[in-house]
Amino acid sequence: MTDWLRDQGFTVDASSGYTDALEQLRKKTFDLLLVDVRLQDGDGYDLLEQVRRNYPETPVVLITGYGDADAAVEALRAGAADYLTKPLIDDELLMAVQRVFNQRQVIKENNQLRKELDRRYSLGNVVGQDVRMMRVFEMVESVADTKATVLVSGESGTGKSMIARAIHRRSDRAGKPFIEVACGALPENLLESELFGHVAGSFTGATGDKTGKFMQANGGTIFLDEIGTASPAMQVKLLRVLQELEFEQVGGSKTFKVDVRVILATNEDLAVAVTEGRFRQDLYYRVNVINIDLPALRERRSDIPLLAQTFLQELRDDTNRTVRGFSDEALAALENYAWPGNIRELQNVVERAVLLGKSEMITPADLPRDIAGGSAITVSRVGNRTLKEALEEPERQIILDVLEANGWNRNATADSLGVNRTTLYKKMKKLGLEERQMVN
Ligand SMILES: Nc1ncnc2c1ncn2[C@@H]1O[C@H](COP(=O)(O)OP(=O)(O)O)[C@@H](O)[C@H]1O
Ligand SMILES: [Mg+2]
Repeated sequence: MTDWLRDQGFTVDASSGYTDALEQLRKKTFDLLLVDVRLQDGDGYDLLEQVRRNYPETPVVLITGYGDADAAVEALRAGAADYLTKPLIDDELLMAVQRVFNQRQVIKENNQLRKELDRRYSLGNVVGQDVRMMRVFEMVESVADTKATVLVSGESGTGKSMIARAIHRRSDRAGKPFIEVACGALPENLLESELFGHVAGSFTGATGDKTGKFMQANGGTIFLDEIGTASPAMQVKLLRVLQELEFEQVGGSKTFKVDVRVILATNEDLAVAVTEGRFRQDLYYRVNVINIDLPALRERRSDIPLLAQTFLQELRDDTNRTVRGFSDEALAALENYAWPGNIRELQNVVERAVLLGKSEMITPADLPRDIAGGSAITVSRVGNRTLKEALEEPERQIILDVLEANGWNRNATADSLGVNRTTLYKKMKKLGLEERQMVN
């Protein structure tokens, strides 16, 4: 068989049996293994199992005894790519080998395609498959290599800082500094010296000269976060530096000119700030040339499972936790929650669940109460139940919550729910809530 396959143009190594085959597999990667079920020193199925486990990329074709139909079925079930029955016929052998190679080619191409898609539909570690995120990715790609000022807007925790960094990383400035300034975190006078630097003695405490962030970012990108908080005086200075890329240090008279790409972020609607007179209209026009608006997490719920899995995977890599995944109920709870803190909150919730979770799967019990199904009621599909039946679970959850909140005092519970005591008792009985429930 070895000779014949070599004649057909294949490179073939022969092996004397089970132990020798494993030995060879350790040293070299094979595109295909042809294994007889009966080996001198072992069993072909055992070898198949070893290969499936340790070299899952390597397909195995088992050679079974003539007419042993059970063995053939067993071989496929155990993960063989194919089987051949003895006596071996050259044509069958050739066809089986070619079939396996063709399959491998298809799989390879699929993987390549998938990688290609990953590249197109994600930006490094920025995860998202919602159409709105696709649009965000497209915008990032198209503006990255320009010098255009970009305004990234979105609620807190939607990924503004992450997108700003992604723009920098995809630009031709990637090798130069990326300097981040949290404008909301500093009082006005300090912010000015932080951004533009100061000369010694320009104000109390300004002992030496200080290089500002604009200077540090020279050649690279500056990211001005929370731009909506800038004071009116600061807005004037920002307008100038954005227009001319020129500034003076605090207390200095020399004008510096820099080559800096500016990205800004805001979690408030600047157009509203303009109408309310808190933000200069001319500055607004200057920063709002290209606006990347990030959707809130609740506006792209389909990304929640993907993000949750990604964070779980990252934690698993970083810690030695063995949490495998989320139960269906836990995922449903995550998908139904409103996420006021957006992705940052989701990340924290997953982290907490992984660290505190007691089982292999994350269940609603590992999630904070208000996510697990306290206030956010999860209504499952009606399916083939009646409306009345479908409403029982949320009803039970509401009553249970209010009972809990009132320390199982039924008068108080009936009051908060706006029903009379008899109605409450009847419902509790029907919903199996008569016993005091132990809730952790
Ligand atoms: N699309 C995303 N994919 C993966 N992680 C994200 C994504 N968006 C945000 N994050 C993560 O969520 C957290 C908050 O993101 P961040 O960029 O700081 O938000 P913002 O600046 O809008 O408050 C960060 O830890 C970030 O890594
Ligand atoms: Mg941020």
